[in-house]
Amino acid sequence: MSSLHLQQLDELDELFPSSALDQIQQKEPTCSIRKRAASVETTDLDKLSRPSTLEQHVTINSRAKMAEQYLIDPDSQQAWQQLGDLEKVSVNVGKAMEEFRNYKDSSRQDIVELHYKMMRKNQSFSKVAYFEKKYHSFDKCEMTIWEAFEALKGYVDSSDPDSELPNLEHMLQTAEAIREAGHPDWMILCGLIHDMGKIMYLWGTAEDGQIGRADFPQWGLGGDTWVVGCPIPSTVVFPEYNSLNSDENISKYQTITDNTIGIYEKGCGLKNLKFAYGHDEYLYQLLKYNKTTIPTEGLAMIRYHSCYPLHQCNEYKELLEPGDEQLLGKNICCCCFLM
Ligand SMILES: [Fe+2]
Ligand SMILES: [Fe+2]
Repeated sequence: MSSLHLQQLDELDELFPSSALDQIQQKEPTCSIRKRAASVETTDLDKLSRPSTLEQHVTINSRAKMAEQYLIDPDSQQAWQQLGDLEKVSVNVGKAMEEFRNYKDSSRQDIVELHYKMMRKNQSFSKVAYFEKKYHSFDKCEMTIWEAFEALKGYVDSSDPDSELPNLEHMLQTAEAIREAGHPDWMILCGLIHDMGKIMYLWGTAEDGQIGRADFPQWGLGGDTWVVGCPIPSTVVFPEYNSLNSDENISKYQTITDNTIGIYEKGCGLKNLKFAYGHDEYLYQLLKYNKTTIPTEGLAMIRYHSCYPLHQCNEYKELLEPGDEQLLGKNICCCCFLM
């Protein structure tokens, strides 16, 4: 993940002028799904999440001076305490890459570890088939891209140890980081929408690892993924929970021969692999359903960005076919943005 530069905070006001925000607040939801997204009720689960709102962040420009004060005087804890989350992320623009993806002792460790424990336990080969059947009909609701973004303004990812910002801000940061690195427009667009598939929470149930709310639990739609139908590699985050996965006891998923790994023929190709289900696959299928013109490389970024064992740890090489590595290799730098 990259962060937003202080000098780029002006652009937030251009993206979200107060007049546009007023329109959103005054506008009646156009479908009942959106009403459901807006009405987050309080339960004990709220203790595990800290939803924020876009409204809290649109005044950011007026507070940028406070951030500057912190930069000038790092001992000014008072100024630091008064900063909002996005402002703190902005000040932290110099955070080292190795400080990201801390799965040992981040301030969000309890939330993140519980997420992965539940995800590893429940995301099996048969569960992926269940998700595909339920979520690939795309008959639940019609909404604009902005309406989808709006549904994510209170969505805080329970698998992310680095940020408790709502996903809307995260997607803007990602797009901005890709733009700043000089990548082409289609890639910036992919960064902007890469987590938009998390809107699938709107149709979630407890059986789906969600409860139809923007906050915890989220094991059916977020977090680092792996390939189902074959052994789970030890390079996944929280490998100590691999033994909880029900597929671990099914021999056809665990058997490796000269020609096969689990249910897959060696060299079968990336497109034939099934991944633990989540927002990556949902958005990819949603875009295909809507006849997207995003190039193949961009669709690969979106579809595989959560599979860190694949694009960061050299796993599944024997399952790839010619062209797959180039497809992933071209986008490896982008995948680093797409956490
Ligand atoms: Fe993601
Ligand atoms: Fe992301």
